[in-house]
Parts: sequence; structure tokens; C-alpha cells
Amino acid sequence: MRSTYDKIFEGNKKWVSDTLERDPTFFENLSRGQKPPILWIGCSDSRVPANEITGTLPGEIFVHRNIANMVIHTDMSMLSVLDYSVNILEVTDIIVCGHYGCGGVLAAMDNKPLGIVENWLRHIKDVYRLHQRELDEIKNEELRANRLVELNVIEQVYDLTKSSIVQNAWLNKKKLAVHGLVYDVKNGILNDLHATVNDSSELPKYYLVDKK
Ligand code: CO
Repeated sequence: MRSTYDKIFEGNKKWVSDTLERDPTFFENLSRGQKPPILWIGCSDSRVPANEITGTLPGEIFVHRNIANMVIHTDMSMLSVLDYSVNILEVTDIIVCGHYGCGGVLAAMDNKPLGIVENWLRHIKDVYRLHQRELDEIKNEELRANRLVELNVIEQVYDLTKSSIVQNAWLNKKKLAVHGLVYDVKNGILNDLHATVNDSSELPKYYLVDKK
């Protein structure tokens, strides 16, 4: 039996010819550079590919993915992507997209030893602790996990707004909105959590950066 790896070059050839059939100048146009208006911070989960589920094309979304779509203030990879997309690409919207059934969130609710990844999942456990009263009241385990997925997205939206990169963009009057979305792997639907933040007015004062 052929492995998935054996099929990727064939799949690529077909994609190139289909794409050129639709738009003969597609690759020529994209080769000039990118100006995506959206930064997407999503989960590494193979079932949640940013372009496919949003019906967008290459060139439209700048993407960063990690386990459970986390925004960790010491993560140089995330910070570099954030800084580049806000200050060089000048995206106008940042999306944090979580998904129900997230293995990272489920593992964070459990106590199994998992090695290195435990350090990453501890940030999700911190989100649980922040919202423990609400979460502990949800007796159904799947519903409790779903709610933690949502709360985790909202906390990551909040973490983005705390960052000096986003705050400086707002101080410099850049139009920049940070959104929280959740994707349902059971039906393919993307839902808005209505957690959008457009400025720093909702942040406690001790998080704010003063203008130089
Ligand atoms: Co996930």
C-alpha cells in the first residue's frame, strides 16, 4: 500500500495544474510577494488547516500553529511571527483559532506523564485554574473540555493584547483587531466567540505600555 508521503508529489502536480487552469497568472502574481491581511494562530492539529476551512487561498493568511494555539510570552517563534506580521506585513486582523476535541486541551485536563509537552500544557492548566469555578460546575466531560477550549482561546486573545507588539500598534494608531474563533471538527463550522478586542481600553492599567 502506498503511504501518504508517496502521494504528495502527485497531489502537488494535480494542484498546480488545477490552479493554473483556474488562474494562469496565480503563481506569477504570488511570486511578487505577500500582503496577507490576516495573521492566524491556530492548533497544529492536522484537521484544522487555516486556508481550507476558511475558503482562502495561498497569500491571504499568515499562519502560526502550535499545540493548542497558545500565545506564550517567552515563545520567540510566536513573537517573531507576531512582530513580522504586525509591523512588516501590517495585518489588520489577528485570529486565535481553537477547536473542539483539541488533544492538547484534553491532555491538559488529564494527569498522564507526557514528557516535554507537559511544560507547554501547563499554560492550559493555568487557564483552567483561572476559570476553575465555572469549569468544575460543568459535569459532562466533553462539554467541560469544549468550554476550556473556548476559554483558552479567549485567554490567548487577551495575551496577545497584553503584548508590547500589539499595544505599540494601537499606540501608533494602526488598525488592528484581535479575534477569538473556535472550529468544530465534528461539522466543519467555524464560530466567532465574540471576544474581539480593538484597542487596549479593556486591559487593566498595569498591562499597558506608555507612549515613548
Ligand atoms: Co488542538
